[in-house]
Amino acid sequence: MSKKKLNVGIIGYGFMGRTHSNAFRTVNNFFDLEYEPVLKAVCARDGGKAKAFAEQWGYESVETDWKKLIARKDIDLIDIASPNNTHARIAEAAAAAGKMILCEKPLAMNGPQAEAMVKAVEKAKAPNMVWYNYRRVPAVTLAKQLIDEGRLGRIFHYRAKFLQDWTISKDLPQGGAGLWRLDAKVAGSGVTGDLLAHCIDTSLWLNGPIDKVTAMTETFVKERKHNLSGKVEKVSIDDASAFLARFSNGSLATFESTRYARGHKALYTFEINGEHASIFWDLHDLHRLQYFDHRDEGLTRGWRSLHITDSDHPYMKHWWVPGLQIGYEHTFVHQVADFLAGLSTGKPVSPTFREALETQKICDAVLASAKSGQWTNVG
Ligand SMILES: NC(=O)c1ccc[n+]([C@@H]2O[C@H](COP(=O)([O-])OP(=O)(O)OC[C@H]3O[C@@H](n4cnc5c(N)ncnc54)[C@H](O)[C@@H]3O)[C@@H](O)[C@H]2O)c1
Repeated sequence: MSKKKLNVGIIGYGFMGRTHSNAFRTVNNFFDLEYEPVLKAVCARDGGKAKAFAEQWGYESVETDWKKLIARKDIDLIDIASPNNTHARIAEAAAAAGKMILCEKPLAMNGPQAEAMVKAVEKAKAPNMVWYNYRRVPAVTLAKQLIDEGRLGRIFHYRAKFLQDWTISKDLPQGGAGLWRLDAKVAGSGVTGDLLAHCIDTSLWLNGPIDKVTAMTETFVKERKHNLSGKVEKVSIDDASAFLARFSNGSLATFESTRYARGHKALYTFEINGEHASIFWDLHDLHRLQYFDHRDEGLTRGWRSLHITDSDHPYMKHWWVPGLQIGYEHTFVHQVADFLAGLSTGKPVSPTFREALETQKICDAVLASAKSGQWTNVG
């Protein structure tokens, strides 16, 4: 059966440019879908590098100005894989031009900006989705299934961490290619928007809305040389961020993120404790879900390490034979597969811009609470 072509124009050829391109290229090999992405154009400011990327990944053409990309009649979908301060302008222009939009996380620099983006895509009725890809790790999707089936019972605790260690050196500059995450004018915030946003998105999906938070943040290295100005400038991102939260379902939560946890590169973990059962997941062991069920027979009761590779586990029937693992890049393939399936059914695919707005509001509340030292209501 011939597929319906969906012409993709991607903005950004960095880390996420690669994960998304890989997903667009691979998805139809593994998932039976009505739609097929076509790698039509890549856009980035450096035309030479964009051309090299286009040749490597199979894009048909190159643009150096995202406005020109959006103006093209032969582009159906704009995929935003550029730094955070570009998301709003691109998404609003793309919506006005009638394009579908996929946008990297965090959706925006702050809640009000995200709110305007939601209005723009909803007014245009543009299919939209945000790349909170960890929802599509099969073990995490299974956690959602187990919670929705009521296996954990009433939830008491949610505990999430995202730890890294790559900015400890005071000699590391801020700003410019590769280091824009250290520049608040481009990133919006530090680990709150970059790392905790992932933890928050997963938690909202698994455990429902958060009502209020109390937070602390710290910037351990106060000044760094800025790569663009060449001058030593104040660092205004949060290097570390930790907060307590109360969920609407009555459960209590702790969230912690830092880029100063020596020895940790991308340690995203969460644990959920319910009345009957608990689950624990660790990105470094992403194909496993740890599960403890108090209702098990006493003599053999204990934590089970579920190997999420069987064909009845989420997404796994599309891959290899039971027992063989998949990894990080597959989460992006799953997200594209779900988005394309949503185009066929006409149903929005999570997380939409509107759902990602909730995460943005919580990030704002975390930063506001860290400043005021007070418990802060979300929204
Ligand atoms: N889902 C995830 O797990 C995840 C992981 C990493 C990054 N991200 C998000 O993805 C986005 C990109 O991050 P990255 O790590 O790929 O960054 P990167 O620095 O590796 O790549 C950014 C790209 O954007 C391009 N760019 C910058 N400004 C541009 C402009 N005005 N017009 C066109 N292109 C422009 C750069 O040339 C580069 O190709 C960010 O929003 C980030 O938060 C998400």
